[in-house]
Amino acid sequence: MTTHLDTTVAADATVSADALGVPAAQRRSAVLEESVRANPGRFRVLTGDRPTGRLHLGHYFGTVHNRVRLQELGVEMMVLIADYQVLTDRDVADRLTEHVADLVLDYLAVGIDPDRSTIFTHSAVPALNQLLVPFLSLISVAELNRNPTVKEEISQSRQASVSGLMFTYPVHQAADILFCKANLVPVGQDQLPHLEVTRMVARRFNRRYGRLFPEPEALLSTAPLLLGTDGTKMSKSRGNAIALAASADETARLIRGAKTDAGRHITYDPDTRPEVSSLVLLAALCLDRDPHLVAQDIGGRGAAALKGLVTEAVNEYLAPVRRRRAELAEDRGHIRRILRDGNERANAIAEATLRQVRTAMNTESSHSQ
Ligand code: TRP
Repeated sequence: MTTHLDTTVAADATVSADALGVPAAQRRSAVLEESVRANPGRFRVLTGDRPTGRLHLGHYFGTVHNRVRLQELGVEMMVLIADYQVLTDRDVADRLTEHVADLVLDYLAVGIDPDRSTIFTHSAVPALNQLLVPFLSLISVAELNRNPTVKEEISQSRQASVSGLMFTYPVHQAADILFCKANLVPVGQDQLPHLEVTRMVARRFNRRYGRLFPEPEALLSTAPLLLGTDGTKMSKSRGNAIALAASADETARLIRGAKTDAGRHITYDPDTRPEVSSLVLLAALCLDRDPHLVAQDIGGRGAAALKGLVTEAVNEYLAPVRRRRAELAEDRGHIRRILRDGNERANAIAEATLRQVRTAMNTESSHSQ
């Protein structure tokens, strides 16, 4: 069997929000938000990041901040460090240990509480990964081939060929979510196709072998998009990102060099003035104010005044996070213990689920224990 993966069409594979089902997912997310607030105990959330380095402000205001909020509401939270999925980006795979530690430090510094949330890694939870085998049998190659996010990643990756892992990682992600029977997955729009794969796997497994898995739902983030200092998507590899752990001086330098436009009067208008508006938005998020009012305050004082305000707002907002992070970084043993405890918990959950899967699939008699 050949998998015909046409990467030549991938370049224009960016799919519209409508085609991804974003409006429907937004409406559903609003309903879910209400029930989370009314009844947080009904939800188990799974979220995850690839360990590609330190978290930046785009991650923070995009997703991480929301996780802390859900944790504070009393939702049970599983936080996955996707150290197998990150193997699809070969350039970072060699500094994994450091990246994993950085991620744990960032999580703790922003307020993920290991007593209430489980932080764990793919590679330490064999039973999670083992679910990939039966799950792969439930999805067709054509379905994987249609996944717009995978197409996009393939077109963005500078690799000569597409690995089997890259092609199948949405199914691996289904294992990430279903191993702990999470029913709520906070995501950005680009992850909606993956969640659809997870739901399909759950539905088909349940139909074929008996009901075992919930069909998890996407909780779309309402956070507005924060751009990098050059006006494009904030990303470490583009050098336009402000890391949570950056120093105050480094932050000032990055913001000083940020792209603006020729308009002297500062306004908040993301569609026509993306660069200026993203700076305004960053200040507004740190100050917890309406971006229009922040822009109004700066008004005719121009980009230099705006940058001064943004720098001060970011540095002030992040000061306690940075302080906590530096303290925690002193004790590597503590970080290792947190991961060991999280992995232990994740293993217990994964092993219990795998036992149920074996029973459901009638493969348990192949085990002597
Ligand atoms: N794919 C996600 C990303 O690239 C990370 C991730 C891995 C994830 N497994 C997950 C997210 C499960 C949500 C649920 O950022």
